[in-house]
Amino acid sequence: DKGNHRHFMLKEIYEQPVVVAQTLRSYLRPLEERVALPDMEFDLASVERVAIVACGTASYVGMIGKYWIEQLARVQVEVDVASEFRYRDPVLTPNMLGVVISQSGETADTLAALRHMKAAGLTTAGIINVPTSSMAREVDLLLPTHAGPEIGVASTKAFTCQLAVMAALAVNLARAKGQLTPEAERDIVHHLQEVPEAMSRAIAHDEEIAAMAPKIAAARDVLYLGRGPDYPLALEGALKLKEISYIHAEGYASGEMKHGPIALIDDTVPLIVLAPSGPLFDKTVSNMQEAQARGALVVLISDADGIAQAGENTIATIEMPKVHPIIAPLVYAVPVQLLAYHVAVAKGTDVDQPRNLAKSVTVE
Ligand code: M6R
Repeated sequence: DKGNHRHFMLKEIYEQPVVVAQTLRSYLRPLEERVALPDMEFDLASVERVAIVACGTASYVGMIGKYWIEQLARVQVEVDVASEFRYRDPVLTPNMLGVVISQSGETADTLAALRHMKAAGLTTAGIINVPTSSMAREVDLLLPTHAGPEIGVASTKAFTCQLAVMAALAVNLARAKGQLTPEAERDIVHHLQEVPEAMSRAIAHDEEIAAMAPKIAAARDVLYLGRGPDYPLALEGALKLKEISYIHAEGYASGEMKHGPIALIDDTVPLIVLAPSGPLFDKTVSNMQEAQARGALVVLISDADGIAQAGENTIATIEMPKVHPIIAPLVYAVPVQLLAYHVAVAKGTDVDQPRNLAKSVTVE
């Protein structure tokens, strides 16, 4: 049931504050100001390396997880798309934790990768939405997301719920590795508690994003830029756009612009820049300005400070609430999803059932 929404995708975007709160509820212990995981039969302190494997949107959660886990827990993380991991003969050692991420829990390549990790003797954890799925049954440690059924082929609420669980995993690893003080953990708990409200404030920009969508819908190519954890989000923005609007889109790490993609820029190319104010802001903005000098049609997604500093010469700005960098990917996911959605609606494509795609990819 779509309720009063025109598409499942829009309904699922709007559900995010509730389902992310629901997911966080099973990991946050507000009274103790701690982040907890379900009981497990192994000791996270013994984890020396992490291998994260997933496909599509879920693989971008893995990439964001790499930033979080390496920064907070000082544990080395490798991220692969499952179809590559299976066949590249990766070096797997028993002190590794293997992590799979999947909405359906049935994606053929991810399931095969999970079995490969188990056969190599790894302990495995799975961030999975469907609790009765094959992956949910086969992982050693099930870390459920509570997104509820996701109907739209374009993943939205599963993505942000996966991020919430990934943050919980990163914090637990960090504590187990002796890298996190109780005060630092308390701060993270508070920031995570702010997520649902911040997501609601992001959703409030829906109409404004709908109004700018026709400008993007006319483009042949669209580029997305981000740095740090906003780089995988740029990849996610580009995937979402091509998936449902059929416009060619690419995401780049901002610093890569001048290593090639800037050659694509002219005054017909929209450039969606994901840049929360903070330590990485100035660098991303300088990459953005190089593109603006070549005529790029910039949409800057930032907070009030960022927009005050760099909002000039853009075709549009979308103002996000000012949030701590650790939760920014959850909040900035919302305008990225809404933009893809409204561009697709403006183009008149079948948003919930895009051509050539299946919700669950159970063959390789
Ligand atoms: O069910 P899974 O999370 O394993 O699915 C993985 C991908 O097929 C999926 O995220 C796909 O990329 C989405 N259609 C993206 O919106």
